[in-house]
Amino acid sequence: MSSEHRPAPWLLAHEVSVRYGSGTVALQPSTLRFEPGSFTVLLGPSGAGKSTLLRVLNGLVPATTGHVARQDLGPVRSAAQWRQLRRDTGMVFQQHHLIGRLSVLANVLLGRVGAYPAWRSCWPLPRAEQLRALEALERVGLLAEANRRADQLSGGQQQRVGIARALVQRPRVLLADEPVASLDPASAEQALRRMHDICRADGLTAIVSLHQVALARQFADRLVGLRAGRVVVDTAPQAITVEALHTLYGPAPGTATRPDAASDSPPEDTHHAPSIVSA
Ligand SMILES: Nc1ncnc2c1ncn2[C@@H]1O[C@H](COP(=O)(O)OP(=O)(O)OP(=O)(O)O)[C@@H](O)[C@H]1O
Ligand SMILES: [Mg+2]
Repeated sequence: MSSEHRPAPWLLAHEVSVRYGSGTVALQPSTLRFEPGSFTVLLGPSGAGKSTLLRVLNGLVPATTGHVARQDLGPVRSAAQWRQLRRDTGMVFQQHHLIGRLSVLANVLLGRVGAYPAWRSCWPLPRAEQLRALEALERVGLLAEANRRADQLSGGQQQRVGIARALVQRPRVLLADEPVASLDPASAEQALRRMHDICRADGLTAIVSLHQVALARQFADRLVGLRAGRVVVDTAPQAITVEALHTLYGPAPGTATRPDAASDSPPEDTHHAPSIVSA
Protein backbone atom coordinates (compact mmCIF):
# COMPACT_ATOMS: atom_id res chain seq x y z
CA MET A 1 0.00 0.00 0.00
CA SER A 2 1.31 3.46 -0.87
CA SER A 3 2.60 5.57 2.00
CA GLU A 4 0.37 8.41 0.81
CA HIS A 5 -2.65 6.17 0.92
CA ARG A 6 -5.83 7.98 1.84
CA PRO A 7 -9.23 6.36 1.76
CA ALA A 8 -11.07 6.98 -1.48
CA PRO A 9 -14.21 9.10 -1.28
CA TRP A 10 -17.40 8.10 -2.98
CA LEU A 11 -18.09 9.43 -6.44
CA LEU A 12 -21.53 10.30 -7.72
CA ALA A 13 -23.07 10.92 -11.11
CA HIS A 14 -26.31 12.67 -10.25
CA GLU A 15 -28.98 12.68 -12.96
CA VAL A 16 -26.22 13.09 -15.50
CA SER A 17 -27.11 13.18 -19.18
CA VAL A 18 -24.89 13.86 -22.18
CA ARG A 19 -25.96 15.19 -25.53
CA TYR A 20 -23.09 15.67 -27.95
CA GLY A 21 -22.95 18.63 -30.32
CA SER A 22 -24.00 16.29 -33.12
CA GLY A 23 -27.34 15.90 -31.31
CA THR A 24 -26.63 12.31 -30.21
CA VAL A 25 -27.92 11.63 -26.72
CA ALA A 26 -25.19 9.33 -25.43
CA LEU A 27 -26.40 9.21 -21.84
CA GLN A 28 -29.95 9.58 -20.57
CA PRO A 29 -30.33 11.11 -17.09
CA SER A 30 -28.58 8.58 -14.86
CA THR A 31 -27.71 8.49 -11.19
CA LEU A 32 -24.92 6.19 -10.09
CA ARG A 33 -22.97 6.26 -6.85
CA PHE A 34 -19.59 4.55 -6.67
CA GLU A 35 -18.64 3.46 -3.16
CA PRO A 36 -15.09 3.87 -1.84
CA GLY A 37 -12.90 0.94 -2.77
CA SER A 38 -15.50 -0.65 -5.06
CA PHE A 39 -14.60 -2.25 -8.38
CA THR A 40 -17.41 -1.53 -10.83
CA VAL A 41 -17.48 -2.91 -14.37
CA LEU A 42 -19.51 -1.15 -17.05
CA LEU A 43 -20.96 -3.51 -19.64
CA GLY A 44 -23.05 -2.89 -22.72
CA PRO A 45 -22.98 -3.07 -26.50
CA SER A 46 -21.09 -0.66 -28.70
CA GLY A 47 -22.52 2.83 -28.52
CA ALA A 48 -24.22 2.19 -25.16
CA GLY A 49 -22.49 5.15 -23.52
CA LYS A 50 -19.77 3.48 -21.43
CA SER A 51 -16.93 5.72 -22.62
CA THR A 52 -19.18 8.75 -22.32
CA LEU A 53 -19.94 7.91 -18.70
CA LEU A 54 -16.25 7.45 -17.91
CA ARG A 55 -15.38 10.74 -19.61
CA VAL A 56 -18.10 12.62 -17.80
CA LEU A 57 -16.80 11.31 -14.46
CA ASN A 58 -13.45 12.86 -15.29
CA GLY A 59 -14.83 16.10 -16.73
CA LEU A 60 -13.47 15.31 -20.20
CA VAL A 61 -17.05 15.54 -21.47
CA PRO A 62 -19.37 18.05 -19.78
CA ALA A 63 -22.68 16.81 -18.44
CA THR A 64 -25.55 18.36 -20.38
CA THR A 65 -27.78 18.02 -17.32
CA GLY A 66 -27.07 16.88 -13.79
CA HIS A 67 -23.67 16.93 -12.14
CA VAL A 68 -20.77 14.88 -10.84
CA ALA A 69 -20.08 15.05 -7.11
CA ARG A 70 -17.42 13.69 -4.83
CA GLN A 71 -17.73 13.14 -1.10
CA ASP A 72 -14.98 15.58 -0.18
CA LEU A 73 -15.68 18.16 -2.91
CA GLY A 74 -19.46 18.18 -3.20
CA PRO A 75 -20.83 18.95 -6.67
CA VAL A 76 -17.85 19.48 -8.97
CA ARG A 77 -18.48 22.67 -10.91
CA SER A 78 -15.51 25.05 -10.97
CA ALA A 79 -12.35 24.54 -13.01
CA ALA A 80 -10.38 24.34 -9.74
CA GLN A 81 -12.64 21.55 -8.46
CA TRP A 82 -12.26 19.63 -11.71
CA ARG A 83 -8.48 20.00 -11.49
CA GLN A 84 -8.59 18.62 -7.97
CA LEU A 85 -10.78 15.71 -9.02
CA ARG A 86 -8.53 14.89 -11.98
CA ARG A 87 -5.41 14.99 -9.82
CA ASP A 88 -6.84 12.08 -7.86
CA THR A 89 -8.15 10.20 -10.90
CA GLY A 90 -6.02 7.83 -12.94
CA MET A 91 -7.08 6.95 -16.48
CA VAL A 92 -6.22 3.78 -18.36
CA PHE A 93 -7.12 3.47 -22.04
CA GLN A 94 -7.49 0.66 -24.56
CA GLN A 95 -4.88 2.26 -26.80
CA HIS A 96 -2.18 2.65 -24.24
CA HIS A 97 -1.20 6.12 -25.51
CA LEU A 98 2.47 5.39 -24.87
CA ILE A 99 5.24 7.20 -26.71
CA GLY A 100 6.99 4.31 -28.39
CA ARG A 101 10.42 5.88 -28.84
CA LEU A 102 10.64 6.79 -25.13
CA SER A 103 11.71 4.38 -22.42
CA VAL A 104 9.18 2.60 -20.27
CA LEU A 105 10.32 4.70 -17.30
CA ALA A 106 9.92 7.97 -19.23
CA ASN A 107 6.40 6.96 -20.21
CA VAL A 108 5.49 6.30 -16.60
CA LEU A 109 6.98 9.64 -15.58
CA LEU A 110 4.62 11.32 -18.03
CA GLY A 111 1.96 10.51 -15.45
CA ARG A 112 3.67 13.03 -13.14
CA VAL A 113 4.28 15.86 -15.59
CA GLY A 114 0.83 17.27 -14.89
CA ALA A 115 1.82 17.80 -11.26
CA TYR A 116 4.39 20.43 -12.30
CA PRO A 117 4.13 23.77 -14.07
CA ALA A 118 4.74 23.58 -17.83
CA TRP A 119 8.18 25.26 -17.64
CA ARG A 120 9.34 22.60 -15.17
CA SER A 121 9.04 19.85 -17.81
CA CYS A 122 12.18 21.26 -19.51
CA TRP A 123 14.25 19.55 -16.79
CA PRO A 124 14.29 15.93 -15.73
CA LEU A 125 11.86 15.30 -12.90
CA PRO A 126 13.42 14.98 -9.42
CA ARG A 127 14.94 11.74 -8.22
CA ALA A 128 12.01 11.16 -5.88
CA GLU A 129 9.72 11.12 -8.90
CA GLN A 130 11.96 8.62 -10.68
CA LEU A 131 11.82 6.35 -7.63
CA ARG A 132 8.07 6.73 -7.53
CA ALA A 133 7.85 5.69 -11.19
CA LEU A 134 10.12 2.71 -10.56
CA GLU A 135 7.93 1.69 -7.64
CA ALA A 136 4.87 1.82 -9.92
CA LEU A 137 6.69 -0.32 -12.49
CA GLU A 138 7.60 -2.83 -9.82
CA ARG A 139 3.95 -3.10 -8.86
CA VAL A 140 2.97 -4.05 -12.39
CA GLY A 141 5.91 -6.47 -12.67
CA LEU A 142 7.91 -4.42 -15.16
CA LEU A 143 10.80 -3.06 -13.14
CA ALA A 144 13.29 -5.00 -15.25
CA GLU A 145 11.96 -3.36 -18.41
CA ALA A 146 12.29 0.24 -17.16
CA ASN A 147 14.98 1.22 -19.67
CA ARG A 148 13.56 -0.52 -22.73
CA ARG A 149 11.84 1.44 -25.45
CA ALA A 150 8.10 1.25 -24.92
CA ASP A 151 7.48 0.05 -28.48
CA GLN A 152 9.62 -3.04 -27.83
CA LEU A 153 7.13 -4.38 -25.29
CA SER A 154 4.23 -6.73 -25.96
CA GLY A 155 0.69 -5.36 -25.95
CA GLY A 156 0.10 -6.82 -22.49
CA GLN A 157 3.28 -5.26 -21.13
CA GLN A 158 2.39 -1.92 -22.71
CA GLN A 159 -0.96 -2.02 -21.02
CA ARG A 160 0.78 -2.62 -17.69
CA VAL A 161 2.94 0.45 -18.39
CA GLY A 162 -0.32 2.34 -18.91
CA ILE A 163 -1.50 1.11 -15.51
CA ALA A 164 1.82 2.13 -13.91
CA ARG A 165 1.50 5.60 -15.48
CA ALA A 166 -1.94 5.95 -13.88
CA LEU A 167 -0.67 4.64 -10.53
CA VAL A 168 2.30 6.97 -10.35
CA GLN A 169 -0.02 9.88 -9.63
CA ARG A 170 -1.29 7.90 -6.61
CA PRO A 171 -4.92 8.25 -7.59
CA ARG A 172 -7.91 7.50 -5.41
CA VAL A 173 -10.12 6.71 -8.38
CA LEU A 174 -9.16 4.66 -11.42
CA LEU A 175 -11.17 4.97 -14.63
CA ALA A 176 -10.34 2.40 -17.29
CA ASP A 177 -11.95 2.34 -20.72
CA GLU A 178 -11.73 -1.15 -22.23
CA PRO A 179 -8.25 -1.57 -20.78
CA VAL A 180 -7.80 -5.13 -22.04
CA ALA A 181 -9.73 -5.03 -25.32
CA SER A 182 -6.65 -5.39 -27.49
CA LEU A 183 -5.10 -8.26 -25.53
CA ASP A 184 -5.33 -12.02 -25.98
CA PRO A 185 -7.50 -13.74 -23.36
CA ALA A 186 -4.63 -14.83 -21.08
CA SER A 187 -2.92 -11.41 -21.14
CA ALA A 188 -6.27 -9.71 -20.64
CA GLU A 189 -6.97 -11.73 -17.52
CA GLN A 190 -3.47 -11.18 -16.18
CA ALA A 191 -3.59 -7.41 -16.75
CA LEU A 192 -7.04 -7.09 -15.24
CA ARG A 193 -6.11 -9.23 -12.25
CA ARG A 194 -3.12 -7.02 -11.59
CA MET A 195 -5.22 -3.87 -11.89
CA HIS A 196 -7.86 -5.37 -9.61
CA ASP A 197 -5.34 -6.47 -6.97
CA ILE A 198 -3.66 -3.06 -6.89
CA CYS A 199 -7.02 -1.30 -6.57
CA ARG A 200 -7.89 -3.62 -3.68
CA ALA A 201 -4.54 -3.12 -1.95
CA ASP A 202 -4.73 0.68 -2.25
CA GLY A 203 -8.47 1.00 -1.63
CA LEU A 204 -8.97 2.64 -5.02
CA THR A 205 -12.44 3.13 -6.41
CA ALA A 206 -12.32 1.57 -9.88
CA ILE A 207 -14.75 1.97 -12.76
CA VAL A 208 -13.80 -0.17 -15.71
CA SER A 209 -15.58 -0.73 -19.02
CA LEU A 210 -15.26 -4.18 -20.53
CA HIS A 211 -16.73 -6.22 -23.35
CA GLN A 212 -15.79 -9.54 -21.72
CA VAL A 213 -18.67 -10.62 -19.49
CA ALA A 214 -16.66 -13.50 -18.01
CA LEU A 215 -13.88 -11.17 -16.86
CA ALA A 216 -16.44 -8.74 -15.53
CA ARG A 217 -18.02 -11.46 -13.43
CA GLN A 218 -14.64 -12.66 -12.24
CA PHE A 219 -13.35 -9.32 -10.99
CA ALA A 220 -16.21 -6.88 -10.45
CA ASP A 221 -18.09 -6.42 -7.24
CA ARG A 222 -20.75 -4.54 -9.15
CA LEU A 223 -21.94 -4.73 -12.75
CA VAL A 224 -23.57 -1.72 -14.35
CA GLY A 225 -25.08 -2.41 -17.77
CA LEU A 226 -25.78 0.40 -20.19
CA ARG A 227 -27.88 0.19 -23.28
CA ALA A 228 -28.67 3.13 -25.58
CA GLY A 229 -27.51 5.51 -22.87
CA ARG A 230 -29.64 4.04 -20.10
CA VAL A 231 -28.63 2.06 -17.03
CA VAL A 232 -30.57 -1.16 -17.55
CA VAL A 233 -28.62 -3.45 -15.20
CA ASP A 234 -27.09 -2.68 -11.81
CA THR A 235 -26.30 -5.79 -9.86
CA ALA A 236 -23.77 -7.89 -8.01
CA PRO A 237 -21.90 -10.12 -10.49
CA GLN A 238 -23.13 -13.33 -8.93
CA ALA A 239 -26.72 -12.15 -9.35
CA ILE A 240 -26.57 -11.38 -13.07
CA THR A 241 -29.06 -13.45 -15.01
CA VAL A 242 -29.38 -14.58 -18.61
CA GLU A 243 -32.41 -12.28 -18.83
CA ALA A 244 -30.32 -9.33 -17.71
CA LEU A 245 -27.71 -10.16 -20.35
CA HIS A 246 -30.48 -10.31 -22.94
CA THR A 247 -31.68 -6.92 -21.84
CA LEU A 248 -28.16 -5.69 -22.39
CA TYR A 249 -27.04 -7.48 -25.52
CA GLY A 250 -30.20 -8.91 -27.08
CA PRO A 251 -31.91 -7.40 -30.12
CA ALA A 252 -33.06 -3.83 -29.61
CA PRO A 253 -36.78 -3.56 -28.83
CA GLY A 254 -38.82 -3.80 -32.03
CA THR A 255 -35.99 -5.40 -34.04
CA ALA A 256 -36.65 -9.06 -33.22
CA THR A 257 -37.36 -10.98 -36.41
CA ARG A 258 -39.22 -13.79 -34.64
CA PRO A 259 -41.60 -13.57 -31.71
CA ASP A 260 -39.36 -15.86 -29.65
CA ALA A 261 -36.11 -14.14 -30.63
CA ALA A 262 -35.73 -12.57 -27.20
CA SER A 263 -35.44 -15.99 -25.57
CA ASP A 264 -32.31 -16.97 -27.55
CA SER A 265 -28.90 -16.83 -25.98
CA PRO A 266 -27.20 -13.46 -26.23
CA PRO A 267 -25.13 -13.29 -29.43
CA GLU A 268 -21.59 -14.56 -29.13
CA ASP A 269 -20.37 -14.15 -32.67
CA THR A 270 -20.36 -10.40 -33.05
CA HIS A 271 -17.44 -8.21 -32.09
CA HIS A 272 -19.24 -6.45 -29.28
CA ALA A 273 -21.19 -9.39 -27.91
CA PRO A 274 -20.01 -10.83 -24.60
CA SER A 275 -17.13 -13.22 -25.17
CA ILE A 276 -18.43 -15.80 -22.70
CA VAL A 277 -21.92 -15.99 -21.31
CA SER A 278 -22.40 -18.46 -18.53
CA ALA A 279 -24.92 -16.92 -16.17
N1 LIG B 1 -17.38 12.91 -29.45
C1 LIG B 1 -18.57 12.47 -29.84
N2 LIG B 1 -19.37 13.26 -30.61
C2 LIG B 1 -20.59 12.83 -31.02
N3 LIG B 1 -21.12 11.64 -30.69
C3 LIG B 1 -20.36 10.81 -29.93
C4 LIG B 1 -19.06 11.18 -29.47
N4 LIG B 1 -18.56 10.17 -28.72
C5 LIG B 1 -19.50 9.21 -28.72
N5 LIG B 1 -20.58 9.59 -29.44
C6 LIG B 1 -21.81 8.81 -29.62
O1 LIG B 1 -22.37 8.62 -28.35
C7 LIG B 1 -22.91 7.30 -28.23
C8 LIG B 1 -22.23 6.59 -27.07
O2 LIG B 1 -20.87 6.40 -27.42
P1 LIG B 1 -19.81 5.80 -26.42
O3 LIG B 1 -18.48 5.93 -27.08
O4 LIG B 1 -19.98 6.40 -25.09
O5 LIG B 1 -20.26 4.26 -26.37
P2 LIG B 1 -19.50 2.99 -25.80
O6 LIG B 1 -20.49 2.23 -24.96
O7 LIG B 1 -18.24 3.40 -25.17
O8 LIG B 1 -19.21 2.14 -27.12
P3 LIG B 1 -17.97 1.13 -27.44
O9 LIG B 1 -18.27 -0.14 -26.71
O10 LIG B 1 -18.03 0.94 -28.93
O11 LIG B 1 -16.71 1.81 -27.01
C9 LIG B 1 -22.71 6.64 -29.59
O12 LIG B 1 -23.88 6.82 -30.34
C10 LIG B 1 -21.57 7.43 -30.19
O13 LIG B 1 -21.64 7.43 -31.61
MG1 LIG C 1 -16.24 3.03 -25.55
